[in-house]
Parts: sequence; C-alpha cells; structure tokens
Amino acid sequence: MEQELIRLGSNENLLGPSPKALEVIKNNADQLHIYPVEEDWQLAEKLSAKIGAGITKEHLLIGNGSADVIRMIVQTHVMPGDEVLFPLPSFAIYKRLTHVHRGVIVNVPLKDHHIDLELLLGAVTEKTKLIFLCNPNNPTGKIIKHEPLEQFLKKLPEHVLVVIDEAYCDFVEDPDFPRSAELVANGHNVIVTRTFSKLYGLASLRVGYGFGHLETMERVRSTRHVSETGIVAYQAAMAALTDEAHEVNSLEMTINGRNYLYQELDKLGLNYLKSEALFVTLIDLPMPPAQLVAEARKHNLIIRHTDVFDMPEAVRISIGRQEDLEKAVAILGQILK
Ligand SMILES: Cc1ncc(COP(=O)(O)O)c(C=O)c1O
Repeated sequence: MEQELIRLGSNENLLGPSPKALEVIKNNADQLHIYPVEEDWQLAEKLSAKIGAGITKEHLLIGNGSADVIRMIVQTHVMPGDEVLFPLPSFAIYKRLTHVHRGVIVNVPLKDHHIDLELLLGAVTEKTKLIFLCNPNNPTGKIIKHEPLEQFLKKLPEHVLVVIDEAYCDFVEDPDFPRSAELVANGHNVIVTRTFSKLYGLASLRVGYGFGHLETMERVRSTRHVSETGIVAYQAAMAALTDEAHEVNSLEMTINGRNYLYQELDKLGLNYLKSEALFVTLIDLPMPPAQLVAEARKHNLIIRHTDVFDMPEAVRISIGRQEDLEKAVAILGQILK
C-alpha cells in the first residue's frame, strides 16, 4: 500500500477546513448554478466588523485568494517602466507579477533575515510605484513591528503605495505586530492583504481580501467583472468567521507546533529561524538543501526548498499537526544521521 504523504511544503492548515464552513458547503452545493450577488458585500461587511478601526465594506475588496488581490493591485498600478520595490528573500509572486506587467523589479537584501526598512527607504525613487512588505515574511517568518513601520510610512513620498501582505498575521504572537487597519485609517497609502487559506483552512476555496483607502480600492476594483469567487465560497468564508473553535485549534496547533519543532531541531543540531508564521525555515544545513528535500520526498515527506523565494541556502517546513511533525522529525533524523 502506498504510504500517505506528509504535506509540509505549502503552508496548508493540516487541521483541515473549518467544520462550520464544510457544513455550509454541503448544504449549499445545489446553488452552484447561481452567480453571487449580495454575498460579496455581505462577506465584506462581516470582515469590516472584525477588522474595526473604521474600515467599512467599501474599503474592502475580496478576491480569488489573496494572490488574486495582489494580482489586481499590480494590474491597476504598474505600468511598463514603473519600479516595484521589495526585499528579498520574500514571497515569489511579487516578482512574477511585476515581470508580467513589465515593471522594473528593485530589490534590497534582508538584514539578519529581517526586512530592513532603512535600506528600502534608500531605494525609493520618483519611479517607485509599489512596495511589497510580506509581514510575517515568507520564507523567513520574521515580522516588522508597528512603530518602525509607521515611521517608515511617514517618510515615504505620497506617490508610493505600500502593499502589506499579511497572509500569516493570524499566527503572530508578538504584541508589537502592526495594527495595520490603524495605519490605513491614519491616512497612510497602504493596502493590507489577508487570506482564508491559512487560519481557516480554506486554501482550495480561494478567498482572500485586501483593504485600503476608498479611492485606491475603487481603482483596484475596476479590474473586476462581477466577482472573483463563487457563492458557496462566500457563504463558507462567512461561516468560517464564526468558527471560533477551529480558529483556536489552528492557532494552538501552530504555536505548539513551532515550539515542538524548535525543540526537536535543537536535538538534531539543526539551525533554524524562529518564526511568527505557519512554517519554520532551516538554515546552515549539513547537506545541500535540494538534496535534503529530495531525500525527504523518498520518505513521503514534502518540504520546500526556498530557492523559489530567492533563498537557495534553506529549506522551509510548514507547521502541521503534532503527528505530522513527529513523523517529519523522525525522517529528518534518519536522513541526517
Ligand atoms: C506570503 C503569502 N502571500 C499570499 C499567499 C497567497 O495565499 P492565497 O492566494 O491562498 O490567499 C501566500 C500563500 O502561500 C503566501 O505565502
């Protein structure tokens, strides 16, 4: 019999989907022939109530995953020759989308695996259209804190729009994590993107959202036909927002999982980056990262070589359930012995 795969390569929530969302999907599957009408605004309204800080449904835009919201932002803002600035290593999509829209990619390196805001500021020019900040940063798991971020935004020229990708914000423990809705409310030229793919376990439903200033969001919204996602996805996302037990369990799995992994990696003598996200990244590996990933795959363990994020020297392990992590640690031990 083929052994089951241990999927720790794509930062999926291995607890599974929110059970409340699942129930709604089962009960509403017979509505799939209908286009959504009111559901987009209904979900936006529920999200705005959760976000607070004066963010209303008009400040929100829902997309086919947060990657789709990011796509719409680039599509509406980047013209050929515009500069798009972001630190590297970071999430791969910023580079790909800028390329598609014939923007000019400008990168600055990280400093000790953290985003260096001073360096970013120094790289801003008259042509800078967008800045991407992934917070927590994928694949390093490090965060920018509220105060430095606000100071950075205050120093930026007005023509620069900052996209803060908060795909992993729900897993952050640091109390100084930016209150990003407050930054939007305070007038900074920012769009914040978030997702139902991680905490709510709905990666394959494809629901994400962004919020920012009314005029900016109106411009981004102009790329849409009717809606980016379907009626059942909206309904399931609304149900997931009320599923407190699943939220708590997902967060607990992640925090306990990170701590368990640190402890076991220490025992294996492996170096890693402490993370505020749904993954931990291994550095200073005793074998080539691609080889480690390939060896792991032979044992049915999927982990990610971070070369796709311009970090060729590392390997990222997603946080799973305790049993997934125990198996992963045993396999790593076997490969590295
Ligand atoms: C940093 C970051 N942003 C955005 C996304 C896209 O998520 P989705 O399109 O599923 O909302 C991901 C997915 O892994 C991610 O890691």
